[in-house]
Amino acid sequence: MTAEKLNIGIILGSTRQGRVSPQVGEWVKGIANSHGNANYEIVDIADFNLPFLGTTDGTEPGIAAWNEKLTELDGFVFIVQEYNHSISGALKNALDFAREAWHNKAAGIVSYGSTGGARAAEHLRGICGELKIADVRTHPTLSLFTDFENFSEFKPQELHLQNVTEMLNEVVAWSGALKSVR
Ligand SMILES: Cc1cc2nc3c(=O)[nH]c(=O)nc-3n(C[C@H](O)[C@H](O)[C@H](O)COP(=O)(O)O)c2cc1C
Repeated sequence: MTAEKLNIGIILGSTRQGRVSPQVGEWVKGIANSHGNANYEIVDIADFNLPFLGTTDGTEPGIAAWNEKLTELDGFVFIVQEYNHSISGALKNALDFAREAWHNKAAGIVSYGSTGGARAAEHLRGICGELKIADVRTHPTLSLFTDFENFSEFKPQELHLQNVTEMLNEVVAWSGALKSVR
């Protein structure tokens, strides 16, 4: 009997017009698919048209759809961009819009920014603790200066491949283990 493959969502953390996150997400998905050790899908926060938390009566269909999508997933890879030394408001809002759907799942972080998005990623790790998301150690950090052309065209250096693979392996291992906790 073969175990059912885990479902891992690659969450695009930015919703800004002209954002580069889809390029980064597709690159991670390509690497992930080449290993074939789980089902990977891009989850774009922008598709859910989430309102700003607490400003509506909460009946927008996107809110329920967001929670349903997260519930389907066993683990996550956050594509994180640094906005004023933290994560984007869009990602924080999306994180706040669910609770149990995050619990007892694993996540990896791929970040970018002038210093690899490290400050944003560390903030996200703190949030993951509160949401009972087990964030894995290996953390690919991409530089706006050396992994992008004109800060807009994504041209990752080869050296990141190994880190992304290692991060994905950790996410799959922990996502599988945490299934028994849920
Ligand atoms: C409001 C705002 C604040 C930013 N602050 C930082 C920052 O503190 N550190 C950094 O390295 N880059 C910062 N940047 C640059 C972004 O990391 C860069 O524009 C990146 O491409 C944003 O990701 P996105 O294109 O997916 O939206 C900022 C960009 C914006 C729009």
